[in-house]
Amino acid sequence: MGAVIRGIGVYYPETVLTNSDIEKIVATTDEWITTRTGIKQRHVLPKGSKLKASDFGAWAAKAALEKAGLTAADIDGIICANINPDKQFPATACFIQAKIGATRAFAFDVTAACAGFVFAANMAALLIDSGQCGNILVIGSEIITPVLDWTDRNTCILFGDAAGAVVFSAGPKERGILLSQLKSDGTRSEVLYLNNPGDDGPRGMFMDGKQVFKAAVTEITEIVKTTVAKGGFALTDLDLLVMHQANVRIIGAVAEKLGLPPEKVIVNVDRFGNTSSASIPLVLHEAESQGRLKPGTLIAMAAVGGGMSWGCNLMRW
Ligand code: COA
Repeated sequence: MGAVIRGIGVYYPETVLTNSDIEKIVATTDEWITTRTGIKQRHVLPKGSKLKASDFGAWAAKAALEKAGLTAADIDGIICANINPDKQFPATACFIQAKIGATRAFAFDVTAACAGFVFAANMAALLIDSGQCGNILVIGSEIITPVLDWTDRNTCILFGDAAGAVVFSAGPKERGILLSQLKSDGTRSEVLYLNNPGDDGPRGMFMDGKQVFKAAVTEITEIVKTTVAKGGFALTDLDLLVMHQANVRIIGAVAEKLGLPPEKVIVNVDRFGNTSSASIPLVLHEAESQGRLKPGTLIAMAAVGGGMSWGCNLMRW
């Protein structure tokens, strides 16, 4: 069976932090952030809020279920990707299961940092293709800003908080996720990581920005190329590149290397910042709202993150 998208839902907090707001927190400027990253603002959890990733995830999941015309009881499995889970265990997906009342569903988390949604979507496609499941909720839910070091201008300017959820359902083989490729290189785990409170080393996130930038451009370009080729397509057959939103310069460089014109690439990092595993469902939701997902549209979803881990799902709408 094909794993087709039946509904997409998103949630993000109303509170907006602009670059000018960040100028008051660390030594930076709107001009520096805009030219280096393309980010103008991000939605953030209000200070002091006790909300957890499972709250965002449950709200996004409910919106996705409504769109799909399904109830929580129709869901066979919930896979949640995130970098800041509600607790060390149980899985954030279990809290979401309880919050939406998906009593029949198994639930587990995927930890692949910003590539988490692509990894989780691959798992959903396999579970559906095998016949084990009919409907899977794949959720990227990220509350990142409270765990950043707000004295570190290298990292705190980049991220936002949000969740996106997608209902994948069994459908015709020629639609949905056609194939996926996933890769990891643990020898590069030192370039991007989030410490636990009390760990030695940096408070919050460490990032070697230049290394991450280079790896993102190289690995995403390569994996999109090989995934498209493995599917028997040419890059010119791609209608849309739905890429993890980390930096507009990374997205632009990948698009250029793949020979994709700007109209085939969606960018929302200017309004949301980097929302890690939530960024791909946020972009899909935007593409759908703009009427850009039509029957037959060929989409490459691709992401890279700490691990380093990266992947691509090739999908026919
Ligand atoms: N405001 C102002 N200056 C800043 C700054 C900020 N927020 N952050 C860093 N700088 C300074 C640096 O200290 C450095 O100063 P120096 O030359 O005096 O040492 C200078 O700006 C250049 O820093 P550099 O790191 O070379 O900038 P860059 O062009 O590589 O851009 C990033 C930095 C982080 C925007 C860029 O490397 C990047 O986007 N990397 C990928 C990040 C990413 O995508 N992470 C998540 C992946 S899932």
